[in-house]
Amino acid sequence: MNTAEDLARYVLPTYARFPVAPVRGEGTLLWDEDGNRYLDFCAGLATCSLGHGDTPLSRAIARQASELIHCCNLYQIDKQVELARCLVDECLELPGRVFFSNSGAESNDGLIKLARRFGQARPGPAGQPRHEILTFNKSFHGRTLGGIAATGQEKVKEGFAPLLPGFRHLELNDLSSLTSNIRPETCAILLEAIQGEGGIHLASREFLQGVQELCKEHDLLLLLDEVQCGLGRTGEMAGWRSIEPGLIPDAVSWAKGLGGGFPIGAFWISERIVTDNTPLFGLMGAGSHGSTFGGSPLACTAGITVLREVIDQELPARALRHERTIRETIASWQHPAITEVRGKGLLLGIGLNIEALRVPEGLPASIHLSGELASAGLLSPPAGPDTVRLMPPLTVSSGEIDEALEIFRHTLDRTSG
Ligand SMILES: Cc1ncc(COP(=O)(O)O)c(C=O)c1O
Repeated sequence: MNTAEDLARYVLPTYARFPVAPVRGEGTLLWDEDGNRYLDFCAGLATCSLGHGDTPLSRAIARQASELIHCCNLYQIDKQVELARCLVDECLELPGRVFFSNSGAESNDGLIKLARRFGQARPGPAGQPRHEILTFNKSFHGRTLGGIAATGQEKVKEGFAPLLPGFRHLELNDLSSLTSNIRPETCAILLEAIQGEGGIHLASREFLQGVQELCKEHDLLLLLDEVQCGLGRTGEMAGWRSIEPGLIPDAVSWAKGLGGGFPIGAFWISERIVTDNTPLFGLMGAGSHGSTFGGSPLACTAGITVLREVIDQELPARALRHERTIRETIASWQHPAITEVRGKGLLLGIGLNIEALRVPEGLPASIHLSGELASAGLLSPPAGPDTVRLMPPLTVSSGEIDEALEIFRHTLDRTSG
């Protein structure tokens, strides 16, 4: 087994990694080579929806791999139809078309390209093309040049100037600031209904309703980044519906949970008419976008199997039941190191009271606590400086939730006061 020093010698040091080296998983559990057992409430950063070693998923992948892994998008790929149909008819229940990518950042790049085409098809009042996309502080939209330009966090942009132009970041849930910041060149609003990496911050229902109104009034596209909060984790297949069921987006991006750990991303574009009988999806016609790997038979098989299990086993409803247990248990502790629990379903952020924790100088409280939790056998990743996340596989059992909360409380006791 290679050591952390070997990793540092050969792998680019873009991640500050915790000293945990899983080699095997089953359900919510991971083991390292020495047999140490971890409860995985990170789930590959909200990705392993069905946990580790899921039998239907691993069998479906193995079967498809032996039949056909890849054939490229010059040819008809039946599995794309099956997966797109499930996304459109069962997850969104909104008509439109799907493009398959390989990651969340790539899916968001697709939404950015759509917004640019829309801004040209429907120019501003003086006939000038519109190109500006408004996004929000603490958002995260990925690490491509498009993704970092869209992201409302300075740290992801450092040293990468010149950035892709055409983005401004505003305060989430501040409708009057949003209203006053719409300019003639603005063509779209991009948001996460529940911000994940930025610390589990929710758009309010009133804000989402206001955004929808502003989009109608100013002819803007409403783009929803569901990469982290979509496909069941928040208790709804469409994550935003756990806050505002009536919201109708123009385009949606996904990745993470869609493949249960297998890399796949996707975005959907609505079929509402934009110009001369052209539907919105028609702005992205032949030659406008592409991906060699996107939507391979193998990736789509993973996606189909994951969505079937999530839907047929009613895992979103289970996520809501687990959320209730977690909230009730944490409230009963009245722990001075916890300020609040934010989020929905199994995308939860535990806010930390930094004053109540003993944290080594210079280290964010969230990273310190995540490290302590990992050494106690619970993987619970940080989100922002003062929040740790609980986002286990959607298949997690009640017993595993209870055990994780016990570890959490003991670790907080040990590191606070
Ligand atoms: C909301 C959101 N959008 C986009 C991304 C980027 O996804 P990926 O890492 O698959 O490119 C992430 C990743 O954390 C995310 O949380």
